[in-house]
Amino acid sequence: MESGKRTEEKREEENQSKAAMMPDDKPGELLEEARPFIDLMMHYRCAIMEVETKLKILDAEFSQEHNRNPFESIKTRLKSPMSIFQKLRKKGYPVTVESIEKYLNDVAGVRVICSFPDDIYRLADLLSRQDDIEVLNRKDYIENPKPNGYRSLHLILRTPIYLSREKKLMRVEVQFRTIAMDFWASLEHKLKYKQDLEDGEDIARQLRNCSDFIEALDYQMQGIRDRIDRSGGKAQQGENQRTGGL
Ligand code: GTP
Ligand code: MG
Repeated sequence: MESGKRTEEKREEENQSKAAMMPDDKPGELLEEARPFIDLMMHYRCAIMEVETKLKILDAEFSQEHNRNPFESIKTRLKSPMSIFQKLRKKGYPVTVESIEKYLNDVAGVRVICSFPDDIYRLADLLSRQDDIEVLNRKDYIENPKPNGYRSLHLILRTPIYLSREKKLMRVEVQFRTIAMDFWASLEHKLKYKQDLEDGEDIARQLRNCSDFIEALDYQMQGIRDRIDRSGGKAQQGENQRTGGL
């Protein structure tokens, strides 16, 4: 027993000196502490993949049936650790892994850029109706633009991801915009981060004007698309009559 105890003490001593000699062990410990955070971020990445796939499936089906794509592109982003930290701090929540899941809706972000406003509503509806999707929140800034002129449709969704040992419900923020609305939002975003602009108010007014133009433009383009589709339909009908539909 006595010798067993000594061996134990010796091992402990060795471990301590190893730790002193090998500061490289530290990152290992740190990584272990960060494990729940790293895992959670992986879960959010999986949720992004799920939602992106759902949208791509709707796109594939629509383009097969209608010969055009309902969206132009999808952008995804995982909120950075620094932005997560800042947002929790700003909102006065404890900076913990539990807080992230409980209070933040936009760690997983998906942005869908469509050509036309009606595609936005069609896609958003189809996605919302899927039986493993729950819509926690819907903000229609296209119907009701923000005072600065911001337009987009925002959904906060909850959707499952299937891991080896569990099924986990994750929240994902999905923003739908037209190309024109996206163009507007990226310029406005730049303005937000320029603080002391001399003519800031005038720029803001101009941006609001542009937002109105963009609305008119989006619906005019949609109208033109409908006309093209209708006349294309007539031409196709004529062609079908000529060839007997072959
Ligand atoms: P956070 O702003 O994310 O704290 O939440 P919220 O409750 O205000 O959500 P909201 O749906 O209004 O905005 C969510 C996201 O939409 C933002 O993080 C931006 O990406 C985008 N967004 C909202 N308003 C604006 C805006 O005025 N301009 C631009 N460029 N983007 C905006
Ligand atoms: Mg946000």
